[in-house]
Amino acid sequence: MKALVIYDSVFGNTERIAREIGKALGPEVPVILVGKVTPSDLAGLDVLLVGSPTRGFKPTPAITGFLEALPADSLKGVKVSAFDTRIPLESIKSRFFRAIVKRGGYADKPIAEILVRKGGELVIPTGGFFVVASEGPLQKGELERAGEWARGILSV
Ligand SMILES: Cc1cc2nc3c(=O)[nH]c(=O)nc-3n(C[C@H](O)[C@H](O)[C@H](O)COP(=O)(O)O)c2cc1C
Repeated sequence: MKALVIYDSVFGNTERIAREIGKALGPEVPVILVGKVTPSDLAGLDVLLVGSPTRGFKPTPAITGFLEALPADSLKGVKVSAFDTRIPLESIKSRFFRAIVKRGGYADKPIAEILVRKGGELVIPTGGFFVVASEGPLQKGELERAGEWARGILSV
């Protein structure tokens, strides 16, 4: 099985999650920053997981741009899913902003939408992992939860 994890990260939290996900998928699974992915990394893939910090309810421009640039149907036959990092709603004091953030959504869904549009098969639900504050750290237990989430794709 050839698996790949692609991520973007500003403060390092999504990178930590991505590395844990890579480890959970297997000892040799590459975990690559979005700007460093080459066409050969994508050749013959069976599993592709893509993650981004949620910024303004969306993935980073680097992740969106990379995915949009993939040729049509290039993910045909590839099992895919998406993950993000995000702030917990409860940590937002203002009710008004809480409502806006809840409505705005997170990076996981737009990533998954493009992966599927490029031919990928979404075989597990997307994952969202929490940071305590914008720059982190990750909430306790999120690395473990990410590993568990990723292992789900090995059994489908
Ligand atoms: C400019 C900016 C916009 C953000 N927008 C959102 C958002 O819409 N929803 C959310 O839950 N968190 C938001 N956050 C918090 C980020 O999700 C958080 O910084 C990210 O998970 C950290 O991941 P990283 O360390 O990989 O960059 C935002 C943070 C910044 C700096």
